[in-house]
Amino acid sequence: MSQRGAPPTPATTPRTPAEASLLETAARRLPGGVLGSHRFTDDLAFVVKRAQGSRLWDVSGREYIDYLLGSGPMFLGHSHPAVVRAVTEQLADGSTYFLVNEPAIALADEVCRAVPCGELIRFTSTGSEATFFALRAARAFRKRDKILKFEGGYHGSHDYALMSQTPKSPKAFPAPMPDSAGIPHAIEGEVLVAPYNDLATVEALLAAHGHELAAVIVEPFQRLIPPQPGFLPGLRAITRRHEIPLIFDEVVTGFRFAYGGAQEYYGVTPDLATYGKIIGGGFPLAAVVGREAIMRGFDPRLGGSPDYVSQVGTLNGNPIAAVAGLASLAELRKPGVYDRVRAIGGALKAGLAELVKTTGVVAQVVGEPSVFDIVFTDRPVVDYRATLTGDSAKLRRFNQVCLQRGVLKGGSKIYVSVAHDETDVERTLAAFGHALEAVARL
Ligand SMILES: Cc1ncc(COP(=O)(O)O)c(C=O)c1O
Repeated sequence: MSQRGAPPTPATTPRTPAEASLLETAARRLPGGVLGSHRFTDDLAFVVKRAQGSRLWDVSGREYIDYLLGSGPMFLGHSHPAVVRAVTEQLADGSTYFLVNEPAIALADEVCRAVPCGELIRFTSTGSEATFFALRAARAFRKRDKILKFEGGYHGSHDYALMSQTPKSPKAFPAPMPDSAGIPHAIEGEVLVAPYNDLATVEALLAAHGHELAAVIVEPFQRLIPPQPGFLPGLRAITRRHEIPLIFDEVVTGFRFAYGGAQEYYGVTPDLATYGKIIGGGFPLAAVVGREAIMRGFDPRLGGSPDYVSQVGTLNGNPIAAVAGLASLAELRKPGVYDRVRAIGGALKAGLAELVKTTGVVAQVVGEPSVFDIVFTDRPVVDYRATLTGDSAKLRRFNQVCLQRGVLKGGSKIYVSVAHDETDVERTLAAFGHALEAVARL
């Protein structure tokens, strides 16, 4: 039974037979019982029924404060009235045309205005496609094939991106390790890997390989790890010196760290940037944005020439996602929105750091106020190899207790939204406290 006033959670309320039956069907029909994304242990698995604002409910009626936020797009919270209204109105006029349309043009204009490197934009449907096509455009422009990425950096699920994102026993730099079966071995020869936040190694790699590189791609804030002072400006200076296009993957940071994304937040402008998540307002929409000199390769009038970059997608720039994106961006332009997210996220982050201190657990809270998490290590977390020193059993236990107590987070990420409030912070910190006590008992 749930306590009076407290919402039902997995700790207080068992799974209903209806939810158990749905999970059985999922297990029979979906590989691993999941959609390819998040997988909980069998005892805590649940099926989402609905979500609203900062909360999400499962089929058994249990309530979660949601810090997964659809893996980040729901920065305004779920079912924001402005987004629901915009999408409902657009639905009556058609949901996709495969042609330029008013919402897509308006969103193109708004994103280019907001983003420091924004001269031209090409829409895709997913962030993975955005990074894939950004790399293709850079190759076409530079007339080179290889790319350099950073160990631990995630750029989606295509073959070039799934290199050394989560290597278990990393190789010497710059050799990549594929993160998936089924990636052609030939791709390994096309990707160089460098340590994040290590300018000296990047400098040395570009001195040796700059002549064969088409692009350097980086998450300006890599997963949870903020850039060290000087890292992004240094990367900008080195790539400029070698005339290699610099791509910021802003799928997470875009419109989250600031309206102008990480480029505005950290004050460094790349040549190209990729966007996803927030710009589609919870619908499938992503984009490549950047300098005209590179982006013009996508112009179909170049078709048949050696400069033409082919890029087509059935749902690209569809008006449903575009109006959802426009409505979301309009909300984000309202005064004080980012200050509020930073304040709420900051309170949560500081509260967690305080609990770490009082419980005496060895851990650090890493990230920015709108995206952070706990890492159970005493090492400074400045790159991927430092994250490997984190105790994964402790993190699993932490996440498990949070979920039992109705706090839903990613495996190694806490996303904060505009919809989270002080009540959420209070309840979440109580759950964090229990989770840390459980970790201390391990
Ligand atoms: C930094 C980054 N790039 C690219 C992607 C891929 O985006 P999508 O899942 O829409 O393909 C993600 C997804 O989480 C991401 O975090």
